Formats: sequence, structure tokens, C-alpha cells
Amino acid sequence: MEGVSSVDDSLMQEEVLEGLSKPQKRLPSKFFYDERGSDLFEQITLLDEYYLTDCEKEILQNDISEIADCIGLGVMLIELGSGSSYKTRFLLEELSGLSTYIPVDISEEFLLKTVNGLRLEYPKISIIPVFADYTSHFELPISGSNNQKQVVFFPGSTIGNFNPTEAKAFLKNIAEITGKDSEMLIGVDLKKDVEVLEAAYNDPQGITARFNKNMLMHINDELDANFDIELFDHHAFYNQEAGRIEMHLVSSQKQTVTISNQKIRFEKGESIHTENSYKYSLQEFEELVGGRYSVEKVWTDERDYFSLQYLVKK
Ligand code: TRP
Repeated sequence: MEGVSSVDDSLMQEEVLEGLSKPQKRLPSKFFYDERGSDLFEQITLLDEYYLTDCEKEILQNDISEIADCIGLGVMLIELGSGSSYKTRFLLEELSGLSTYIPVDISEEFLLKTVNGLRLEYPKISIIPVFADYTSHFELPISGSNNQKQVVFFPGSTIGNFNPTEAKAFLKNIAEITGKDSEMLIGVDLKKDVEVLEAAYNDPQGITARFNKNMLMHINDELDANFDIELFDHHAFYNQEAGRIEMHLVSSQKQTVTISNQKIRFEKGESIHTENSYKYSLQEFEELVGGRYSVEKVWTDERDYFSLQYLVKK
């Protein structure tokens, strides 16, 4: 089969048990994304309350010619966490000079479906999927000319799902994997009213709640585990001090869950912390990337909720 596989399934059990043995129980957010999780996430992006996607689209639409100027011609575009590549379709449409597109995603089924569609739609662009966890080291299948400029596309404010230390480690990893003149087009969600922030992660239809709980179903499917998802509640709130939305699954009663013969005990009201979504001011973000990248250009939507930023290696 085509593509490079580097997602190690056997690590999952170890990471799950390690996270759940901490005083504040924690699960790595990458476990949201099995096929069902990726589908639910796509639904989140369509919600009215979830302003991030609309803002990012608005920016891509309004500022595409400036963005295209930054990216340039004959480029290799590497998208991290490509999902359905919806936003990419827009870029592939508008960037006539693109020669190679490399979607990188942890969900193999989802990636393959998307790539099959894209290949039919864009026969002139060479499309090479990479199945990988981009938070660890992975290889880029660089075939042909090595002097092609590499531009990393990292939309959706996924950078906000790392804490600042992890975000710096991520930038270091990407800077090492890509060539020395590589650049980055990155989506960054901005600080704003708490009500707007919290509404985005608490939709009345409960899709975000289902997405959150799906992590437990995913763990049940992959490991020998018996989470009862009815006994956990979705809880998302803005932590002002830390500058982040936190997502938790709260145990509605005292209970014991078994994972691979290990018993995990929950008090009533005890939570598993499943996700962070950091919000930055423009200045905070510039400081965050400052060690490695300089911010060449920033575009925002009409309401200044969200930004797309063009970073170049220092
Ligand atoms: N990075 C986006 C955000 O933080 C998308 C995302 C990641 C998300 N994990 C999520 C959205 C969990 C909702 C719930 O908003």
C-alpha cells in the first residue's frame, strides 16, 4: 500500500494507562480521532457556535491572493491533520503553482478516502499521503527534486491544542523534518469574550459532547476496556489564567473502569481532562514562535476572532 505508516498501536494502551494514573486524569487528545471521531469533528466544524472554521474560511477567501503570493510557485504543500481536506480543496483550487500535496493524518481510513477523491479532482498535483502522528518524528516522502520549497499548512488552530511547551517542541520537530527554507501557514485562534469561546465548545445539539465521549468508545474498541459512556458528562470551560478552553469528561458517579486488567477508580465528579484549546493574542503568539520562526504576515477575519499567520524560519 502507498503511504508511510508510523502510528504505533501498541503505544495506545501505555499512554492511556499512564494518563489515567495521574492525580488529574488525562487522555491524549489524539485518541479523539478514529473514523467516527473524525466524522463528528467534521460536524463540529459546521456548527454555528463553532466560529473557528467560518472565520478561517472567510480569511482564506478574502486574502487568498496575498496568501498565494507568500506561498509562491512550484511548492510542496504539507498539511498536518488533513481530515477531509476541505480547506485544502480551496487552496488546491486557488494555488495554480502547486506541484505536490502531502496530507499527513493519524486516521488512515479517513485519509485514504480523501486522497482518492482529491486525485480525481486534481490530476495534475502529485498527492502523497502520509499516515503519521505529527507530534512525533515522521519522515516526509521527498521524491524528485529536493530544492522544492516546502510550505506546511496547519489550519484550525490545532497549535492551540498543545500547551506552550509542547507547541515549541512541535515547531522544533516540524522545523527539523522540513527543509531549511520551509515556511508555514498556520491558523491561530485569538483571545476574545468568554461567552463566545465557551459557546463554541458547548453546542446545544451536543455534538461536541458526543465527540468528547467518543474518545472512551475509541478506547473500548481498541483496547480491552469497559467505559460506560453514559456515566461521563461533557464539561468545557474557559480557564482565564491559563488562557485556554479545557475539555473534560466528568464521572457522574463513583465507579471503576477496567482497562487491560487494570482497575481505574473514579470518584463522583472526578474528571478526565481530554483537551486544551489555547487562545493567543497576536503578541503572545509571536513570542511563542519567536525562537524559530518570524511572523511575516497576519490575516484576521472581520471580527478579529481568528488569524492565519505566515511564518518563515529564522
Ligand atoms: N483546534 C481546534 C480547537 O481547539 C479543533 C479542535 C481540536 C477541537 N480538538 C477539539 C474542537 C475538541 C472541539 C473539541 O478548537
